[in-house]
Amino acid sequence: MAAAPGRQRPAPLLLWALLLGAVLAVDRSNFKTCEQSSFCRRQRNLQPGRSPYRALLESLQLGPGAATLQLVNEATKVPLLLELSGLRENTTRIRIRELHPLRPRFEVPDVLLGEPQPEPLTVTGREEGSLELALGPGGHRLLLTAKPFRMDLLRGRQLLASINARGLLVFEHLRPRPGSFSDKVSSSLGSLWDKLRSLFYSDPPKEPAEEEAAAEGQEGGEGTENADSQSEKPAEEAAEEPGSWEETFKTHTDSKPNGPTSVGLDFSLPGFEHVYGIPEHADNLRLRTTEGGDPYRLYNLDVFQYELYNPMALYGSVPLLLAHSARSTLGLFWLNAAETWVDISSNTAGKTMFGKLLDYMQGGGETPQTDVRWMSESGIIDVFLLLGPTPAAVAGQYAALTGTQALPPLFALGYHQSRWNYNDEEDVAAVERGFEEHAIPCDVLWLDIEHADGKRYFTWDPSKFPQPRAMLERLAAKKRKMVSIVDPHIKVDSAYRVHSELRARGFYVKTKDGGDYEGWCWPGSAAYPDFTNPEMRAWWASMFAYDQYEGSTENLFTWNDMNEPSVFSGPEVTMHKDAVHHGGWEHRDLHNLYGFYVQMATAEGQIKRSGGRQRPFVLSRAFFAGSQRYGAVWTGDNAAEWEHLKISIPMCLSFGLAGLSFCGADVGGFFKNPEPELLVRWYQAGAFQPFFRAHAHLDTVRREPWLFGEENAALIRAALRHRYALLPFWYTAFYRCHRHGLPVMRPLWMEYPEDTTTFAMDDQYLIDRALLVHPVTEQGARGVQVYLPGKGEVWYDVASHQKHHAPQTLYVPVTMSSIPVYQRGGTVVPRQDRVRRSTESMKGDPFTLYVALSPQGTAEGDLFLDDGQSFDYATAARYLHRRFTFAGNTLTASSADPRGSFETPAWVERVVILGAGKPAAVVLRPAAGPETRLDFQHDAETSVLTLRKPGVPIGADWAIILR
Ligand code: NOJ
Repeated sequence: MAAAPGRQRPAPLLLWALLLGAVLAVDRSNFKTCEQSSFCRRQRNLQPGRSPYRALLESLQLGPGAATLQLVNEATKVPLLLELSGLRENTTRIRIRELHPLRPRFEVPDVLLGEPQPEPLTVTGREEGSLELALGPGGHRLLLTAKPFRMDLLRGRQLLASINARGLLVFEHLRPRPGSFSDKVSSSLGSLWDKLRSLFYSDPPKEPAEEEAAAEGQEGGEGTENADSQSEKPAEEAAEEPGSWEETFKTHTDSKPNGPTSVGLDFSLPGFEHVYGIPEHADNLRLRTTEGGDPYRLYNLDVFQYELYNPMALYGSVPLLLAHSARSTLGLFWLNAAETWVDISSNTAGKTMFGKLLDYMQGGGETPQTDVRWMSESGIIDVFLLLGPTPAAVAGQYAALTGTQALPPLFALGYHQSRWNYNDEEDVAAVERGFEEHAIPCDVLWLDIEHADGKRYFTWDPSKFPQPRAMLERLAAKKRKMVSIVDPHIKVDSAYRVHSELRARGFYVKTKDGGDYEGWCWPGSAAYPDFTNPEMRAWWASMFAYDQYEGSTENLFTWNDMNEPSVFSGPEVTMHKDAVHHGGWEHRDLHNLYGFYVQMATAEGQIKRSGGRQRPFVLSRAFFAGSQRYGAVWTGDNAAEWEHLKISIPMCLSFGLAGLSFCGADVGGFFKNPEPELLVRWYQAGAFQPFFRAHAHLDTVRREPWLFGEENAALIRAALRHRYALLPFWYTAFYRCHRHGLPVMRPLWMEYPEDTTTFAMDDQYLIDRALLVHPVTEQGARGVQVYLPGKGEVWYDVASHQKHHAPQTLYVPVTMSSIPVYQRGGTVVPRQDRVRRSTESMKGDPFTLYVALSPQGTAEGDLFLDDGQSFDYATAARYLHRRFTFAGNTLTASSADPRGSFETPAWVERVVILGAGKPAAVVLRPAAGPETRLDFQHDAETSVLTLRKPGVPIGADWAIILR
């Protein structure tokens, strides 16, 4: 393939624009609109109406757990197979495939943890033209209507979702190319083909009316109405439209050897006005309706200078949408890895609160309803309805299918210092010295693409990084780590071992003509390893062995960038859809999975190099459902603008809702130079987001934390220290997420599902359930409005310890040092307050427990502790999970999980009780031994009781009694 010059280093003009801080925007013409994507256009032309599909109720078969049934498109007569299963955990799976596909269609592998276990299904009712199925033990019923085909899912008498109620089921069946030999054969054989086919396969029995109509070559009865009542041609009939068998975008032609193959389906969600999820988009947390604009697009793309508040695709895709109301929550997980568009419409969109109220009072108000329509370019329809009913239950249901967030090594929750690029070993040493000299904690220094020899990953530039091992050892001596970038585009250079091996083993993605697929990326001409091939992944993983990746050591971890994959010379800056992968699958079928596999193989490599003992750390830009099992993700190339700081919150929240809890945004903004105020605010916000890394473009001015004067350095230092002090809390939150799938950073409505005030909030969130964060993201801010949720609850300002009653919206005056954070009354937050240079130096440090009392004088919290790096917590139960409970004036420490044990010298050096009265005495009662009196101090003004030096081991059981 000819390599066209692509995006390389910014031209001088662009550099000037960067330096002058001009507003830069995406070149939209590089990316398709729905109208320019032929399958999206075809499907969208199909308006809601009567579906041409009919369910053949007599074909129902009840298997062990799944029910199958045939559907037939009355216009094309092509039969489909519908498979329904009720799964454990209140989940229903619906699959629709072609009954007799011309060729196999792609079904997404490796994303689900395993084959979900179905529950027995029973038929609970039958009537003419419909039947009712009971789905597993959750009390859910599915009403299936034959003509037109639709399904309604109920819990008790509540209708949860209707499927194909708007008649937008589309299944473009595989067919011979018009004019091809097989097409000629099939058309000349005409109906004989149908006859033959019905001899070999058990085609649905035709009803008399249908036989008649078929003989006349037209639709009979209602079928005629069908076609007419659709305001546009059915997508399948429109299949021969331009773009069906070949599609050109800009200079690229997609050869589409299989023709039109798209699938689509609509879901109506009565009672829901708020939907979320389907990352990645640079948009508000609450999804907007897409009428009159483009649908949300899911197609992993490297979008240069992405724009905010629009539905364009970005680097990653998780086809999980959540719907939430004060009554219940549900999820739709559309398991398809091809290019996908999601349309959202609502019957209340555009209506004001007053309008809705008026409707209601006049009795004419409809139930609010959101309609969601999924459209994918290929594959099958495979969708999971996660029926909640609570937000936490939906998170658990999704986690049961795709897994939970990998437990990060503790260092990865510390602060990461990156830029494109740290130039050489001296530069790395100087930056590290900067952290020491300014007493700012930092765990990891990052090396971007310039560190490698001519962008040949797994190598080091011999003049800039001649002694990588010595450099890494120097870092290790300071208990710090390094991350180097390893991108999936491989320089085509026969002298480069990685390339020659990949080529010799036939491990590259192929062109449609069978050659190695090549495109243009950072190294110039590059080829792309086929990460969908398990053998190739094993080989890639073996490259991380210390003797393969020369100069690497165990404190070197990995960054996978450009893994959408980014192909500067390709259509929409990515791979041609007709490129061919392992098993003969087209890139079209699995595009959104490529980055998922890159991160999977890299994480495997790190695990292998340690003999299976150590937890990996891999940051990936592209992702799919399930990527949470392999590491962290970030929001890509943002910019040093206030709006980009703001959007980092809803973007990471929606990542979290989709299972990806380990999310961050480039602190400071990637493009452009942040003014000091923005940089400081970004550090303050980033310190309270899960993945905390500063990163910057090659052409930006240096911006290590101490370069903006002592005052700003002090502000940044304070934010970083706050982060480090809270690491035990972060780590415990990640452990909980790893065990149960609840996002670490979560929207308020996950904890307060009935509080409608929280449903569209983008500027504040919770970490786990205990801390509410409302970072300052406004330039020149003098105050922020903080909403404190929870009827009858109280919240404590973490800085002043002042107590506030909820619910209320609080005006909080701010200065440059303010980070509005509140601890929820009723929780215990463990901290390690000693200032250290990195997480590893904090090992064994004593803990302070912050006990924030509820109005009832109670509190509860926990602490997870292990070696912070190995799998021993899972394989050998080497961990401590402690529980702290305050009730009846007694704080009790006990085990939250007696299976674990872990040796640690750490002890409790202080207990701070917020909202406490002054006791006459405080007594420590250890599990064994005599009671002792504790020193304490009480601040009457703030009601803070500080207990000094309880001195008990963190792993011990004890009670502290306030008398
Ligand atoms: C694009 C990434 O998003 C960015 O973070 C990185 O610095 C550049 N590639 C260079 O590797």
